Amino acid sequence: MMFENKHIVVGISGGIAAFKAAGLVSQLRQKGAEVHCIMTANAAKLVTPITFGELSGNDVTVDMFANISKWDVEHIALAKLADLFVVAPATADIIGKVANGIADDMLSTTIMATKAKVLFVPSMNTNMYENPIVQANMEKLRSFGYEFVEPESGHLACNTSGKGRFPALTTIMDCAEKCIYGRELLKGKKIIVSAGGTQEKIDPVRFISNRSSGRQGYAIAKAAWMEGADVTLVSCTTALPTPYGVKMVYVQDARELEKAMNAEYDSCDAAIMAAAVSDYRPTVQADQKIKKEDFDSLHIDLTQNPDILYGLGQKKRGQFLVGFAAETQDVIEHGKSKLKRKNLDMLVANDVAMPGAGFNGTTNIASLLYKDGHMEQYPKMSKDELGHIIIEKMAELMK
Ligand code: CTP
Repeated sequence: MMFENKHIVVGISGGIAAFKAAGLVSQLRQKGAEVHCIMTANAAKLVTPITFGELSGNDVTVDMFANISKWDVEHIALAKLADLFVVAPATADIIGKVANGIADDMLSTTIMATKAKVLFVPSMNTNMYENPIVQANMEKLRSFGYEFVEPESGHLACNTSGKGRFPALTTIMDCAEKCIYGRELLKGKKIIVSAGGTQEKIDPVRFISNRSSGRQGYAIAKAAWMEGADVTLVSCTTALPTPYGVKMVYVQDARELEKAMNAEYDSCDAAIMAAAVSDYRPTVQADQKIKKEDFDSLHIDLTQNPDILYGLGQKKRGQFLVGFAAETQDVIEHGKSKLKRKNLDMLVANDVAMPGAGFNGTTNIASLLYKDGHMEQYPKMSKDELGHIIIEKMAELMK
């Protein structure tokens, strides 16, 4: 499980979104974390500590003077124990306190005493969030290494709309995962990843595509973000949730994908072509829907698409270039020749005919082939795990 053996302290300050922190505590615990909650006195007026006690399975600390014989031990003990500190929701008040060295209750005192990473999840009214004082406090905290999750835009409790919403739980979970496991292996590097199957238009309602879900490319983009890279994900699918912290470019067909990759390629340090590019497109793309009464039988003439990866290999100037090979036989031999022909540094080869590998599922079975001729074979694993391995191997070679 993701957070097995990890101690996560969740600090809840007094914003209306305090009730949403209950979902977060539950998720963290379900992913294996040992969760301890600290609430401010105001938070405890909005949601009762019983909720957080029940969901975390541990005592909740609110008032540091409630149990005078224990409080000192408690705030230092929690500060020491934490692998990660998440403040959710983080009000303008708690951000301001920490930024200015104020430690006057259990939450602010424990944050002051911890050496663990602290992840703030600001959520408040837009005007408060945009207030230059709050912004300056956040900037100051960032410069000291405190982390922030960007609030979402949308409907707010004060019945207005704007930036300041408590983010989706998956976003906070991803940021927590990054704080705990990210090693900044790709800090300062710009990475572009393509994902999903291209859609080649036949007419306004029909297209030719393939079985690619985009999951492997999305997993690679997330793994690169977790390692501190500046990531652009060029996606041929809109079916998957947008990953946090990644610049998205949506495209449909191979020619749009080629344009998007080329636009980012010169300035990138690495490019990973995980997209399943259709090798052919209809030669003529009808402007109007093709009607069946017009044709007894229909022949669609196909023209070959550009090989995008080959093109990137040709104009390589120091970029680390990764390709994929989806094969149904002689995987390694085909992979080796693709690696050479397309001038790649690494190739991820998978036998898409094997159960648990390739398109559409959540797992993959892959071999990594390298430019110098060596290769590594991996057993069946989740696409997320394989994404991390690809990024780790790549980072090692990019040093
Ligand atoms: N690729 C590409 N442009 C294409 C076709 C493929 O950039 N027109 C990229 C894919 O993104 C992948 C790699 O090339 O990283 C290999 O794709 P694959 O379909 O396995 O190989 P092809 O080169 O198309 O060869 P074939 O289909 O004949 O096996």
